[in-house]
Amino acid sequence: DRYVIGVDLGGTKIHTALADGDGNILAETRVPTETIKGPSHVIGRIIATIEQVREQAGLPAGFVETVSVGSPGPLDIASGIIHFSPNLGWHEVPLKKLLQEGLRTKVMIDNDANLAALGEHVFGAGRGVNNMVYITVSTGVGGGLILGGRLYHGATDGAGEIGHITVLPDGPPCGCGARGCLESVSSGTAIAREARRLVECGKGQNILTRAGGDPDRISAVTVAEAASGGDQEAVSIISNAARFLGIGVANVINLLNPDMIVLGGGVMEIGEPIWQGVRQEVEARTLGAARTHVQVVPAGLGRRAGVLGAVALALQMD
Ligand code: BGC
Ligand code: NA
Ligand code: ZN
Repeated sequence: DRYVIGVDLGGTKIHTALADGDGNILAETRVPTETIKGPSHVIGRIIATIEQVREQAGLPAGFVETVSVGSPGPLDIASGIIHFSPNLGWHEVPLKKLLQEGLRTKVMIDNDANLAALGEHVFGAGRGVNNMVYITVSTGVGGGLILGGRLYHGATDGAGEIGHITVLPDGPPCGCGARGCLESVSSGTAIAREARRLVECGKGQNILTRAGGDPDRISAVTVAEAASGGDQEAVSIISNAARFLGIGVANVINLLNPDMIVLGGGVMEIGEPIWQGVRQEVEARTLGAARTHVQVVPAGLGRRAGVLGAVALALQMD
């Protein structure tokens, strides 16, 4: 029997799952990433989660064939180096080499959103779909492209960095160093930042109350809750984020003429207020048959897309 491990490495959480040869998850765990303590600490934590799921599943060491990891940021698949990941605070980290030394198992890496795209393609909303774009809207905004049934990596493995397409030329600074990236206006981080900015001007009292009066505790969730309670300031923050996301999605549709766009990540769980903005902009900005053909749908695997994509990669279902 084959057993593999998929890891979804995020800025806030490490999600690790052990699966059998058909991709059934037998054990899984989520722990905080603790990025603040640096790459070697985080890599130690990844290794600890792998041991944990192996023990949970009752498998002796050595039974795991392959470990696949999805990591944020542009990276090099062959060398396994993460070039630059603002949300992890990483620069040129040889993730694959360090994991291989710690685990003595075959290690594969790819971009986190690429693997979530693969997960949705193999197990989720995009099963059997030839041209599919997955977009995750959470701490960051990421994308993965399935073109002609295969994950598309581009010339240097950097394809699909949807979070860094420009939607507002002089907009807020982004972690990547540019301004007005989709991530800088539509991510969960951006939603929380906008709310904090209001509070600093003495506004956004409803949002602040929901954060227990502490501006540092304002999150996209607090803003979404205030919005669903009818708070107009919160509603406009959410609809702004949704509008820019819709512009990004429309641009992707016009560029690639995909069969399907799958939207996932915590921000999409805000629900209708986000979807409404997306639908509106897609309707207004896409052309002809590309518009009438494309399906824009929620992720089918929820928060498991990343680990299941990593599992699919390890099982070479890509
Ligand atoms: C990174 C992407 C990643 C996304 C989601 C972005 O900031 O550039 O590589 O997929 O965040 O984590
Ligand atoms: Na990507
Ligand atoms: Zn950017």
